[in-house]
Amino acid sequence: MKSAARSKARAEQRPRATPFVAATFAMTVDGKVTTKNRGTVDFTSREDKLHLMRQRALGDAVLVGHTTLERDNVRLGIPHPDLRAQRLARGQPAYPIRVIVSNRGRINPSLNIFQTDFAPILIFSTTRMPRRIREQLRKRAILHLTESSQIDLRRVLRQLRAQYGVKYVACEGGPALFRSLLELRLVDQLNLTIAPFLFGGRKAPTLTGVNSGFLARTVRCSLIDMNVAGEECFLTYKIKH
Ligand SMILES: NC(=O)c1ccc[n+]([C@@H]2O[C@H](COP(=O)([O-])OP(=O)(O)OC[C@H]3O[C@@H](n4cnc5c(N)ncnc54)[C@H](OP(=O)(O)O)[C@@H]3O)[C@@H](O)[C@H]2O)c1
Repeated sequence: MKSAARSKARAEQRPRATPFVAATFAMTVDGKVTTKNRGTVDFTSREDKLHLMRQRALGDAVLVGHTTLERDNVRLGIPHPDLRAQRLARGQPAYPIRVIVSNRGRINPSLNIFQTDFAPILIFSTTRMPRRIREQLRKRAILHLTESSQIDLRRVLRQLRAQYGVKYVACEGGPALFRSLLELRLVDQLNLTIAPFLFGGRKAPTLTGVNSGFLARTVRCSLIDMNVAGEECFLTYKIKH
């Protein structure tokens, strides 16, 4: 069975309150996912970009942290008609629901994602979101605002499952969000591309961010698939809980 089909099958098998979460990242040989100023750095091939789209296309929802949304200004669509056709054949809508998480809620309504309406946009944030921004975003997205100062990611995932029928989340980072999900044991799979570059930079984030602290618990991964295409290595890890 192909790796993507296996991931989907694993997601289907598991009766649970939170969806299956597969995170997809690309990193340099020295483990960096971007440079220290977190600008948009394009260090991967067309093959890797297609790989990201394939992973996104598996999701009932695609999830990103606010900083990634802002820095990369992504629309989170699926530009490939064949991938959309495969989704329809699987009984999914053509595009996944787009989900943004932000604690502070200072999200710029002029970002590219808000100029498109091909799929619902859900924003999970807090009542710290300024009123003016709320009013603007409400026209383009569904807001879920909690009274507490931080959102509860487990609750967010439960709600995605219960209210929106999301069984499979394609998480596209960034590192801060990934680290939080890992610490809550909410990640099931990591799709990791190793690209043939070295960036260096103490302040350039790795997969788990720039936080120098250890994770509260070492996370064990199990390599379940590996492919080499050109000079990139595509790894699939099951995250052990
Ligand atoms: N190479 C790759 O594969 C890859 C993939 C993804 C991203 N990136 C890069 O990573 C950089 C951004 O990553 P990042 O780590 O700075 O930010 P991030 O994980 O994209 O976003 C972090 C933000 O998400 C919100 N958030 C809400 N709840 C959270 C929680 N429980 N845990 C963590 N965040 C939560 C907060 O937004 P508020 O501040 O609004 O409260 C937080 O500041 C960008 O440069 C992007 O290009 C690279």
